[in-house]
Amino acid sequence: MLDLEPQRRAKFPGGTVLVYPRADAELVASDWIASAIGAAIDDRGQAVVGLATGSTPIPVYEHLVSLRTSGKLPFDFKSVITYNLDEYYPMSPTDPNSYRAFMDKHLFRRVGLAANRTHVLDGTVPEAYTQHHASDFDRWIAADGGLDLQLLGLGRNGHIGFNEPSDLTVEVALALPTRLVELHPTTRSDAIKDFGTEFDVPRRALTMGIASILAARSILVLAFGSNKADAVAESLMGTMTARMPGSLLQSVARKVTWLVDAESAAKLF
Ligand code: F6R
Repeated sequence: MLDLEPQRRAKFPGGTVLVYPRADAELVASDWIASAIGAAIDDRGQAVVGLATGSTPIPVYEHLVSLRTSGKLPFDFKSVITYNLDEYYPMSPTDPNSYRAFMDKHLFRRVGLAANRTHVLDGTVPEAYTQHHASDFDRWIAADGGLDLQLLGLGRNGHIGFNEPSDLTVEVALALPTRLVELHPTTRSDAIKDFGTEFDVPRRALTMGIASILAARSILVLAFGSNKADAVAESLMGTMTARMPGSLLQSVARKVTWLVDAESAAKLF
């Protein structure tokens, strides 16, 4: 285990917050994931991990790859099963902007994870079949024994996965399953850097549901930078509301840990 002291540690309605300089937080996150995987393998013989894409986890995956390359991981990825949070729709897995390609590039290929153990929602399923596919995804997670750890990033608009802000009641939002969704304008605008123009950014995506995320045995949220400060503060200590999906984590706060930096935590203290 890494022995890095956080600059601050505090409990909020949305979970336990650890503040680190970003580079330290990325190291702590990779160590955290490795420990959670090791513990699950010790307990049940396999680890089931929910993964995120986006810019935030890239250095974390890099560290995990280095830990494995330097022989510092006390487990083999043969005992690991992964489920990713989301995928654009429609989207080919061979498209460089697909989340399947992202995960292959940053993690799966580099740690030798077999394709039948890495599950990314399929952006090529026929439209009429998307609900069936999404429900299958939730069933696969359950059949594998549920998620030991879910890694989350946080959108500037507070989305988790691609569960976007909405007017749903909290009760309905908490029960949302994996499904096809419309992307929020902020999410599409943030994706222009990857797709080139707004026109090229998909309008829809398949996302793991709020209920599926909250069912994980533990949840690790990463949020860095001043552009996340509002969403971090509202998620952790604002009213629980579907307008700020990150706030729905308050319903399971005791199993949620947030790794943040001073910039994203600026409105917390
Ligand atoms: C990605 C995902 C999203 C991102 C969020 C933050 O799989 O589900 O919720 O975690 O949009 O993205 P970055 O890390 O690029 O700021």
